[in-house]
Amino acid sequence: MSAGDKKRTACVTGGDGYIASALVKMLLEKGYAVKTTVRSLDDLEMISHLKDLQALGPLTVLRADLDVEGSFDDAVAGCDYAFLVAAPVNLHSKNPEEELIEPAVRGTLNVMASCVKAGTVKRVILTSSACAVSGRPLLGDGHVLDEDSWSDVDYLTANKSCPWGYPVSKVLLEKEASRFAEEHGISLVTVCPAVTVGAAPARKVHTSVPACLSLLSGDEAAIGVLKGVEAASGAVPLVHVDDLCRAKVLVAEEAAAAGRYICCGLDATIVGIARFLADKYLRYSVNSELSGELLEKPRVYLSSAKLVREGFEFRYNTLDEIYHDMVDYGKALGILPTDHDICFA
Ligand SMILES: NC(=O)c1ccc[n+]([C@@H]2O[C@H](COP(=O)([O-])OP(=O)(O)OC[C@H]3O[C@@H](n4cnc5c(N)ncnc54)[C@H](OP(=O)(O)O)[C@@H]3O)[C@@H](O)[C@H]2O)c1
Repeated sequence: MSAGDKKRTACVTGGDGYIASALVKMLLEKGYAVKTTVRSLDDLEMISHLKDLQALGPLTVLRADLDVEGSFDDAVAGCDYAFLVAAPVNLHSKNPEEELIEPAVRGTLNVMASCVKAGTVKRVILTSSACAVSGRPLLGDGHVLDEDSWSDVDYLTANKSCPWGYPVSKVLLEKEASRFAEEHGISLVTVCPAVTVGAAPARKVHTSVPACLSLLSGDEAAIGVLKGVEAASGAVPLVHVDDLCRAKVLVAEEAAAAGRYICCGLDATIVGIARFLADKYLRYSVNSELSGELLEKPRVYLSSAKLVREGFEFRYNTLDEIYHDMVDYGKALGILPTDHDICFA
């Protein structure tokens, strides 16, 4: 970069979160100046990884709340790209309309309105979910779903099988974001990630990492989350967080990118994951007494062909590759016992 060149600047919302922490790191490593937001600057433990990431490049941490109009004005001001990652992710909410769906839609539009005000944002990259693709009645096996597939809001709302509010929130926020983008001339791309795993800078994680380590940790509530995913999606679709972040950066930078992009490295099943973990991690006792109806093979496959046509190459396509850094990350987070704990138990 010559002396007169300005660094490209990106805003990443929710920098204390799992996926956002990995994206902030990747953008800094790629030479971006990054602005990230957190709800509270007081919880020093939640943001300690962001302090560490400041060693990699220019990283500003600002306070912003999805529930407060105009809260993201400073965060997106002057940015070339806005990565909307923060969202309510409370899968066990008792009142999904008020706690998940409405705040998710309102919060997305709040950040997008800040992008309009900023006038510098070339592209908004919205984080949806694979659950906004596959939550619909599908009879039989072998379905291959692409970006034309939408989870069925009426079906999910009528069935109310947990966690119905989360996929509904993602479908509705995608649709509202798309309407808003068209109305205000914003370039919007949406990424629909599969269940995301792999090591990231965040030191506290809530959903996908504990769920995917649950067969090793024995955490029944987290096993329940994994079973919920398989029952609702017809598979356990997985993606490594490094692949997901590279995909997000690619669809931000690629001028021709448009619309939705599914990002899924592998369609797995709980039974397949359990067999893999039992073979590979002999020191841990893999929970093999899994009750309930489990799939021997995926009923549903998510196609990332559109992303691949854009020039993307997945680096992690097998369970071995996808899980390669998960056990160490699980130990560092305290989700899994260390070898020392096991020896002296
Ligand atoms: N992990 C997955 O497998 C997966 C898969 C598909 C899609 N996604 C999507 O990816 C995004 C990040 O997920 P994640 O797994 O990284 O979850 P996470 O670690 O729980 O991060 C969620 C982030 O959203 C923030 N947030 C929630 N409500 C907010 C509000 N009202 N105002 C400001 N910030 C708020 C949280 O802040 P606090 O820390 O203050 O709560 C946190 O920073 C979400 O949009 C999620 O739906 C995740």
